[in-house]
Amino acid sequence: MRVLLTAGPTYEPLDPVRFLGNRSTGKMGYAIAEEFARQGADVLLISGPSQLPVPDNARIRTVRVETAAEMFAAAEAGASAADVWVFAAAVADYRPAHVEAEKIKKSGDTLTLELVKNVDIAATLGRRKRAEQFAVGFALETTNELVHAQGKLQRKGFDLIVLNSLRDAGAGFGHDTNKVTVLDAAGQIVNFELKSKADVARDLVSLILARLNRSA
Ligand code: CTP
Ligand code: CA
Repeated sequence: MRVLLTAGPTYEPLDPVRFLGNRSTGKMGYAIAEEFARQGADVLLISGPSQLPVPDNARIRTVRVETAAEMFAAAEAGASAADVWVFAAAVADYRPAHVEAEKIKKSGDTLTLELVKNVDIAATLGRRKRAEQFAVGFALETTNELVHAQGKLQRKGFDLIVLNSLRDAGAGFGHDTNKVTVLDAAGQIVNFELKSKADVARDLVSLILARLNRSA
């Protein structure tokens, strides 16, 4: 089995010394990569800037990128050959419209930045998905979680979407534990307990393999 996985944040440059980013650490995506590899899959891990070490695993090929555009290019190149796509990255929705060649100097009391929309990696690849390919997305919502997650699943052509809880202490960005709910297109919902990200990864990989009715 070949798995393509995006993980971590993206950094969108503003000038030579600054960027717009987010608090994603990449822990959940890296844990899923490790679990798929442990079960025998070949993994292409496309990672945004993360403090985590590149996995020391012969079954995981890691490509490090910075921006959403670079992540898209790497994902596009690997998508066709992969049986499973897992979009765990926290991709910046917008980037600065202009990247200044020189450091922006402090001047007025306010500064307005113009941002432009980034490519939606999951949605764009979702439109090219073949019937035998399987796509898994992630969502982090603060209101109407299930409705929003279901909408994303449909818009982006996911087979499953993993909803991260922000309500539970110990879940989400930076933590070593996570609590997830998984939805499918038929409206089936699976709730998991708060557990280590390694154990969440095991649950998710088991669920994906069960859906595909095969081993890794
Ligand atoms: N995603 C992506 N490319 C983007 C934005 C999101 O591949 N430019 C993927 C994420 O990796 C995740 C899923 O789409 O698997 C949902 O991401 P999310 O940020 O929750 O959804 P958005 O469509 O960006 O909506 P919003 O941020 O407004 O909730
Ligand atoms: Ca987003």
